[in-house]
Amino acid sequence: MKVLFITNNKDGNGNPKYIEAFKRQGDEVTTINHQSLSYYLAQENEHDHFYHNGERLSVRSFNLVVTRMGQDVLHGCEVLRLIREKYPHISLVQDPDAILIARSKLETSRVLRLNGLPVARTYYDAEPRKRIAIIENKFNYPVIVKTAFGGSQGDDVHICRTREVLEARLEAYERTNEKVIINEYFKPSEDKAADIRALIHYSDGYQVAASMKRIAKDDNWKTNISQGAEGVEIELTESEKEICINAAEAIGLKYAAVDLIRDENGNAKVLEVNTNWGVKIADVVKVDIYKEYAKAAREFAGKVNGVSSYAVAAAKHFGYVTA
Ligand SMILES: Nc1ncnc2c1ncn2[C@@H]1O[C@H](COP(=O)(O)OP(=O)(O)OP(=O)(O)O)[C@@H](O)[C@H]1O
Ligand SMILES: [Mg+2]
Repeated sequence: MKVLFITNNKDGNGNPKYIEAFKRQGDEVTTINHQSLSYYLAQENEHDHFYHNGERLSVRSFNLVVTRMGQDVLHGCEVLRLIREKYPHISLVQDPDAILIARSKLETSRVLRLNGLPVARTYYDAEPRKRIAIIENKFNYPVIVKTAFGGSQGDDVHICRTREVLEARLEAYERTNEKVIINEYFKPSEDKAADIRALIHYSDGYQVAASMKRIAKDDNWKTNISQGAEGVEIELTESEKEICINAAEAIGLKYAAVDLIRDENGNAKVLEVNTNWGVKIADVVKVDIYKEYAKAAREFAGKVNGVSSYAVAAAKHFGYVTA
């Protein structure tokens, strides 16, 4: 199978191991940086062209596109959209529209809630400092302020225990013109703050490939590994598995890392759905996440249902040759 591996970080974040896993199962992998990808949209009798670093890239010959994009995701998704539209025979491990939903914590909450999944109560306002009264009416302190669009490995997530702190935080974000959301705070149900991360893979259907609990360092309330938290392997309950799988599916992602947090009563809420997860989980769980990912993706790509109905409709519309 021919795999197009798209990443801006081919030497980091586990990507060499993912690439190796595909090669080990006999696949041919071409690694490219989406930041160097471009395309020409043809008119009339010309042909569309993709380019990588200014050189023509024949995308048609690939069977599977793997995405591990950390930066410039919007640009990467624009290229993926044209690939999806032109080549329905190519399976995309991640649909571009789904990647963009997952990138926004606001969109993620909206879509998950629409699908009946448990999420934090959320307030969104382009000028929230003007309407603190609404926030105080809807939430008790502490509240969580986080950037609405894009992730930060915990850096852009803040706890505000008083009105003064909340106002100062909102003012700081106003200055940089970054939009934020306000979330209810989930008090840890155990001694230390903790959350759950589950890797979701898709082959025949969805499966939880690996899961870990992330336990905060000392009295830190954040559980990002990059913030010093420790990971331990856990088995999810059936209902937690179902929530994680349904969350990935609701967003439209076949491969994702879903984060859950348990509220005071032990009920799971979806915190976020990640499309470019960190790979510390590989050191924590027994399963070889790289090998399982490559295996699942290969099976997925070999199936007709790897082709999205959107792609088929687009190909029909434009009369593309698809094989
Ligand atoms: N509502 C909340 N209640 C309690 N803790 C929270 C809440 N929201 C976030 N946290 C804590 O803060 C951490 C970071 O939050 P979140 O995952 O939303 O953002 P992020 O990690 O910066 O985003 P990304 O993973 O996309 O980089 C979580 O792992 C969790 O420990
Ligand atoms: Mg996170």
